Amino acid sequence: MPPTEYLDPDKIKAGLETKRIGKEIIVYKSTSSTNDIAAEYAKNPDNDGLAVFAEQQTKGRGRNGSTWQSPPAQSILCSILLTKDSPNAELLSLTAAVAVARTIDKPGQFPAKIKWPNDILIDNKKIAGILIESKTFNGRNASIIGIGINCRQKKSDFPTQLRSIATSIDLQSPSKCDRTLIAKRLLTELDHWLETAQAYPEKVVETWLTLSTQLNSRITLTYNGKNFIGRCIGIDPQKGLTLQLDSDLVKFFPAAHTTITKNH
Ligand code: BTN
Repeated sequence: MPPTEYLDPDKIKAGLETKRIGKEIIVYKSTSSTNDIAAEYAKNPDNDGLAVFAEQQTKGRGRNGSTWQSPPAQSILCSILLTKDSPNAELLSLTAAVAVARTIDKPGQFPAKIKWPNDILIDNKKIAGILIESKTFNGRNASIIGIGINCRQKKSDFPTQLRSIATSIDLQSPSKCDRTLIAKRLLTELDHWLETAQAYPEKVVETWLTLSTQLNSRITLTYNGKNFIGRCIGIDPQKGLTLQLDSDLVKFFPAAHTTITKNH
C-alpha cells in the first residue's frame, strides 16, 4: 500500500503542550539527514528546541558509521536541537532512550525495552534508534538528538538481512500507526524527560534501568574495538554502563563508543 499521509508541521503543533521541544517544527519531504539540517540551525542559540522531521533521508546515519535507511513516509525521522542546558553526553543518551521508549509504549500496548545505549526494542527486535551528535560554535556546545522510529514498514520493506531483527509499530499492532500522533508524543516525552534530567537525573536512571534488557545480565560488549565480558550491574549518569568483569573489576563504558554484541 503506498503511503498516503504526510507529516504536516501544523498538525504536529496542534495542541502540543511542550515548554521547550518543538516550538519550531520543520518537515522536509526529502533531505540528506535531519541531523545535518539541525546542525545548520545550531549556529543560532535561539533555535533551542527546534524539531526537524523528514519523510525521506538520502544520507541517513546510524551509530558507529552505519547508514539508516527508510522508505519514504514510513518512519519518524527526526532531529532535536539543544543549544542550551543540555545534560552531559551519558545522561542525554539515557534521557533520549527513555523518552523514545515511552513514546512507543505510551498506550501500554508495546512493552518497549532499551538495549544499551539507546536502541529501542520490542519483542527483542529493533523498532527505533538514536544518534546523538554535538557541534561547537563560538565556544558554545550544541547537541543534536537524531531519532528514527519504524512506523508503517511491512516485513518486506526491511533489507533481507534485517527482517528477523527489525520491526515497526504497524508490525506490532492490529491498527495502522498514526505518525502525527507518534511525532506529537515524541516531542512531549522528550520535553518531559529533558526537564526531568535537569532536576532529577536519578529518575531518568531509575526509569532507564526498569526498561533495560541488560541489567544483571552477563554480556559481551565492544568498546573501541576491544571485547569485554561481565555482568551489567548498573548505569552511571556521568560515566556510562557499569560492568563487573569476570576478574571482579568494575569498569565504566561510555555510550558513544560501546556496543553490546552478546546478551548471554
Ligand atoms: C542507530 O540506531 O544506529 C541510530 C539511528 C538514528 C537514525 C536517525 S533518523 C533521523 C536522524 N538523522 C540521521 O541521519 N540519523 C538519525
